[in-house]
Order: sequence, then C-alpha cells, then structure tokens
Amino acid sequence: MEFPDKKELQIFLDVATEAVMTAGTILEDLVDQLEKIEEKGRPGDLVTEADKKAEETVLNILKCRVPTHQILAEESGTIGNNESDYLWAIDPLDGTTNYAHGYPASAVSIGLLWQGKPVVGAVYNPFSRELFRGAKGLGATLNYRPIKVSQTNELSNSLLVTGFAYDRRETKDTNYPEFCYLTHLTQGVRRGGSASLDMVSVACGRLDGYWERGLSPWDIAAGIIILEEAGGKVTAYDESPLKLESGRLLATNGLIHHSLSQALTEALPWLKAFYT
Ligand code: IPD
Ligand code: CA
Ligand code: CA
Repeated sequence: MEFPDKKELQIFLDVATEAVMTAGTILEDLVDQLEKIEEKGRPGDLVTEADKKAEETVLNILKCRVPTHQILAEESGTIGNNESDYLWAIDPLDGTTNYAHGYPASAVSIGLLWQGKPVVGAVYNPFSRELFRGAKGLGATLNYRPIKVSQTNELSNSLLVTGFAYDRRETKDTNYPEFCYLTHLTQGVRRGGSASLDMVSVACGRLDGYWERGLSPWDIAAGIIILEEAGGKVTAYDESPLKLESGRLLATNGLIHHSLSQALTEALPWLKAFYT
C-alpha cells in the first residue's frame, strides 16, 4: 500500500483528535471518584477503572472510523487486521501513577504507525486542557497553534526530563546513574511521570531533551511524530535510527542531541568515580 497522502493523514489526525478528546473527558470525570486501583504485576504499575474506560472509548471510536486498521492498546493488546499497514498505538492514560495520586500530569496518547513508523499523533492532557497534534509533513501544534523545539544548544543550559520503568527493582539498567550525571551537568532533570507529555514538552520548547528506557510503543508513538514535526530529533541512545521495539529512546531539540548521547555513555563511569 502507498504512503498516505496529506488528505488521508489529515483525516487520521482528526480521528486521533476525536479519540483523545473524548477519552480525556472520561479521565477528567473519574479522577475524583476512583474506587479501584490495582497493580498489574510489577510493584507500582497501576491500573484504574479510568484506564479501562478511556481505552474502551478509544477502541469504539477507532473500530467505527478505521475498521480495516490494526490496533495495539495498552490494556487490551493487539486487535484487528494484522495485514494492515496501519497500526494505532494507544495509551488511554499515560501517567497513571500521577493520576492515581491526583497529580495533574497525565494524558491520552494515540499514535498511528504506517509500516512501523509514526505518521500521526495526538496527545491530550485534560487537566491543563492542552492538545498536542502532529502528522508527517503537516507540522505540529499545541491547541491548534504551531509549535517548535527550543534553541538551547549547550547541555549546561538545558532542562531535561526522563523516567524510570516499572522493572527498575529487577534490573541494574535502572537509569539512576544517567539521572545523577545529567542532573550534575545541566540546569535540571525533571521526572514528569508521563512519557507522552515529556515528549511533547520537548516539542513545544518547554524542555530541551528527554531520554528513557523500558518504554512501550503506546508511550512514545504519538510523541515521536509530534516532536519530529516540531523540528526535534528522535533516535536510539547512540544516535542510530530508532527501533521502536527497543523501548529506549533519545529525543531532543536536535541541538543538544550529540552531547546528550555522549553524556549517557559517560554516566556509569562518572558515578563510580564520584563515590570512590
Ligand atoms: C508510564 C509513564 C512514565 C514512564 C513509564 C511508563 P503509564 O506509563 O509514561 O512516565 O516512566 O515507563 O510506563 O504506566 O503511566 O501509562
Ligand atoms: Ca504509558
Ligand atoms: Ca497507561
């Protein structure tokens, strides 16, 4: 199948928008009345009825609007036509821990992949009422106004963000050394708690760079295309082309990309030397 033209991309972007906005109102409605918060297996990996209801809403919209496409949804897994070139990656509530504590930084994130590459994305934070959108060749917007990455070109002047996956108690690949070293080198490193919001914050220039490991396609599919369309760069840690399934990415304004990639390789030796 051929790459979708601009008209098709616009239609898919509008479908993604309808889905994130509708699911966003569910998150807003349920936040004060959460009765059941469960752990999904790993300690701290929570799921609430809001995750489930928001996902059900998104699935209903996609099944109606794009019935021939395949879907990968965090709570339901893979659904639909496995021969399609299109795959919708859905995180119905990105930032569940924030949400469960009433900390207003979570979002609905929906990305559309074409032959494995993100081409459309929408991320909506119902608590700040911010809607981020992007599609290949159509640019990136925040509440329908164009956005661009920052101009920060020195790591020492940058403000970064990262996160820690739920397997952090089971692995040595914790991201703790990287967090310490980058905190030492920069103006600060935030831990936002929502990968999609972290990425769109880089896209609109509030933050200069982001890295994280242990991610799933639904965490990052939308953020990747929004950030790229805002002029940013997304690769593997070593600056090679991103492999979505690796769950590990480096996403920046482009200008600090190389220095941040380099710093990630220096973190562990630096930390060891620091404590000896
Ligand atoms: C999590 C958030 C968090 C990131 C975790 C993700 P969830 O998603 O995006 O920022 O550090 O790795 O799993 O569980 O809130 O959808
Ligand atoms: Ca997530
Ligand atoms: Ca989630």
